[in-house]
Amino acid sequence: MSSSSKVYTLSQVSQHNSPHDCWIVVHGKVYDVTKFLLDHPGGDDVILSATGKDATSDFEDIGHSSTAVAMMDEFFVGHINQSTIPEKTEYTPPKQPHYNQDKTKEFVVRLLQLLVPLVILGVAVGIRFYTKSASA
Ligand code: HEM
Repeated sequence: MSSSSKVYTLSQVSQHNSPHDCWIVVHGKVYDVTKFLLDHPGGDDVILSATGKDATSDFEDIGHSSTAVAMMDEFFVGHINQSTIPEKTEYTPPKQPHYNQDKTKEFVVRLLQLLVPLVILGVAVGIRFYTKSASA
């Protein structure tokens, strides 16, 4: 087996996770990008945060150019043992108690909060007006 077809486990690749020794996994291939870190147009931090896992979706999400893809060959060191990559778990939202969307009660309370003082004010003004005109 030649060194270029060496197969690594994810935990082996994960050990190379520093700025001085950085490996990533993209499309089932392992790349030693240590020398490229500082030259990477997207910065070294994004690549460093993509170590220790399958970085394929991170790599694809950026929409790397074909030039970028062509550059990768230079850093190829082997393949990843796919069975060592944990399967993607689908996100299931936590179960929540049924949320009451009905806001009618809240609305009526707010309306009353607004109307009651207005009615009181109206009655007060009415009484004042009535007593004034009655005494005149
Ligand atoms: C061997 C692996 C990689 C190579 C050769 C590479 C190469 C490049 C190149 C040439 C660019 C300039 C834009 C382009 O031509 O597409 C770029 C941009 C970028 N890359 Fe990578 N990249 C690699 C891995 C990654 C990984 C694993 C990530 C994310 C975790 C990443 C994130 C980014 C980001 C965020 C940009 C900047 C995009 C922008 O500013 O629009 N790259 N990369």
